[in-house]
Amino acid sequence: MQKIGVIPGDGVGPEVVAEARKVLDAVSEKHGITFEYEEFPLGADHYLRTGEVLSEETIQRLSRKDAILLGAMGDPRVKPGILEKGVLLRLRFHFDQYVNLRPIKLFEGVPCPLGAKGRKINIEFVRENTEDFYVGLGGRVHEGLSKTSLSLLRKAYEARFDIGIELKDESELAFQLGVVTRHGARRVMDYAFQLAKKKGIDLVTAVDKANVLTEIYGLWREAAEEASAKHGIAKEFQYVDAVALHMVRTPERFRLIVAPNLFGDILTDLGAAIQGGLGFAPSGNINPSGVSMFEPVHGSAPDIAGKGIVNPVGAILSSALMLETLGIEKAAADVEAAVKKILSEGRHKTADIGGNASTSKIGDAIVRELAKPR
Ligand code: NAD
Ligand code: IPM
Ligand code: MN
Repeated sequence: MQKIGVIPGDGVGPEVVAEARKVLDAVSEKHGITFEYEEFPLGADHYLRTGEVLSEETIQRLSRKDAILLGAMGDPRVKPGILEKGVLLRLRFHFDQYVNLRPIKLFEGVPCPLGAKGRKINIEFVRENTEDFYVGLGGRVHEGLSKTSLSLLRKAYEARFDIGIELKDESELAFQLGVVTRHGARRVMDYAFQLAKKKGIDLVTAVDKANVLTEIYGLWREAAEEASAKHGIAKEFQYVDAVALHMVRTPERFRLIVAPNLFGDILTDLGAAIQGGLGFAPSGNINPSGVSMFEPVHGSAPDIAGKGIVNPVGAILSSALMLETLGIEKAAADVEAAVKKILSEGRHKTADIGGNASTSKIGDAIVRELAKPR
């Protein structure tokens, strides 16, 4: 039995999670796996009603799950950051989900904005998920002398920063720190190079901006060098600006990209665009020896929420990633094959790719496909 914590969340979150669960139910029937679900009503409604973002008790209950399935967080009624940082980032950090795996795969039948049919885009994208400019350390100071104490508490380490700032001739200054640790860079590089080995990939592209942010990405590069030597797989370094260019012009040249948190966030929306749109992009926040959390790359899409038109494929593929991470690989491959078949047939398309199929039509079609013997 697999215990799954479900966080439908905001906007289109509940709509896409419902389809992912439909697919998991079909998997359960076909493969004889039992899922025990517990829903957690986190998000804007819960926050506006109770004033609570995420309680310790909820975290404790989630920590007893085998995996978490999440829809999306964020709502126009709530100040940006409260739910995104308070729920999403807090869970990623608490469960030390240091890998954000975001495969960028263009399926047959899905229109690619880069034009030309039959492009072979298949990139394993590994985004570091606990450090960099996401650590949440920063502040604002005013003219004169000030002292700020910040601390970064992680399971493996603690770092305290006492920053004295003397600001002259300007009334206000805001700053935010980017942090890369040897431990943090090393473990995500290990994961990336091991994944390359598992998938038969012979070149890992490590992304950074080491020509400007020389400290944090200098350390990042050392970890990549080390992992490349350790795992016997070649690496190349590319600056993030050039990667953005190449992902548009010649995405076929990349097989596995490993990127720091912030650049990884941005590049995976670009990745989503070249795989047909945000509606197709899955992701897993992975701790290989802990509780992992699976969610589509897209957000709560308030502009289309409640209309039954959101594309659920990213969420469904995220549930396949969940199955794979739980070691139920056959079922994971089965879900991906069913998605692939439905997309290549092209009979059911959501509005984001010019069709008029509803969200649940897509889920139903994938479930019907899954039910067929393979
Ligand atoms: P978004 O991903 O929600 O939407 C961007 C655009 O893509 C919108 O036009 C939307 O309609 C469209 N879109 C997204 N997913 C789609 C799908 N599955 N099918 C069809 N169209 C889809 O990004 P945003 O508008 O920048 O952010 C909205 C809210 O979501 C904000 O509060 C933001 O902080 C939050 N957010 C959350 C996550 C997450 O939970 N992981 C990720 C990104 C943004
Ligand atoms: C994502 C989102 C989040 C991120 C936000 C909502 C905190 O953009 O999952 O890509 O930046 O990681
Ligand atoms: Mn993002």
